[in-house]
Amino acid sequence: MKVDIVTIFPEIAAGPLGVSIIGRAVEAGQVAIRCVDLRDYTTDRHRHVDDMPYGGGPGMVMKPEPFFAAVADLRTEGAKVILMTPQGKPFRQARAVELAKESHLIFLCGHYEGVDHRVVEALVDEELSIGDYVLTNGTIAAAVVVDAVVRLLPGVLGDDQSAEVESFSGDGRRLEAPHYTRPAEYAGMAVPEVLLSGNHGAIAKWRESQALERTRRNRPDLLCDAKAKSISDDWIPDEAFA
Ligand code: ADE
Repeated sequence: MKVDIVTIFPEIAAGPLGVSIIGRAVEAGQVAIRCVDLRDYTTDRHRHVDDMPYGGGPGMVMKPEPFFAAVADLRTEGAKVILMTPQGKPFRQARAVELAKESHLIFLCGHYEGVDHRVVEALVDEELSIGDYVLTNGTIAAAVVVDAVVRLLPGVLGDDQSAEVESFSGDGRRLEAPHYTRPAEYAGMAVPEVLLSGNHGAIAKWRESQALERTRRNRPDLLCDAKAKSISDDWIPDEAFA
């Protein structure tokens, strides 16, 4: 997979994507990530990327020309162009799974009040938001999406870090159960007895009920979503929807 992140702050994305699992995936050639400076596509002496909004209002708007020049330069056949913006569709695990099947992703990162809408109309396949809050710019958001997508590429996670059994994978309706490791007792807190029992049936049951309890406490919306979608599955007891 090829990934281009077009931004006025390439170093923001390069940092987190250059280390750990994603950094190793880059080194191994499983993904090629380029953090591209939008200002390299300006033509004026001061390398301006923004201007005042038509119609007035606070803040600056990012000019269309550098984005058009960048995409014209970077685009390959079948590339998907994604604008990171709080106005985008919510990014979820299911989307990460789909994006991991693409061959080339180009992320456009906004800053200031937003991006000239002609960029959205003519260049962008998809607008994505990573959550209902406003960041100073879309570069951190792009790094989040790239991390979530690249870790799903074949061979990027080792067998012991499988992406299969984790929150939001599969049906996306429940969080993971709590995890423990040694020591069995720490600061007066004991690991739940059942996890030491070797009884795999009992452990699976315990994990299921803990996952449900955690979901109910932290993300009741997931359970409501499931009900709203009328997904018929018998593992969620009716009282979960009370
Ligand atoms: N840019 C600023 N805030 C953002 C968000 N929540 N998601 C994506 N891009 C953004």
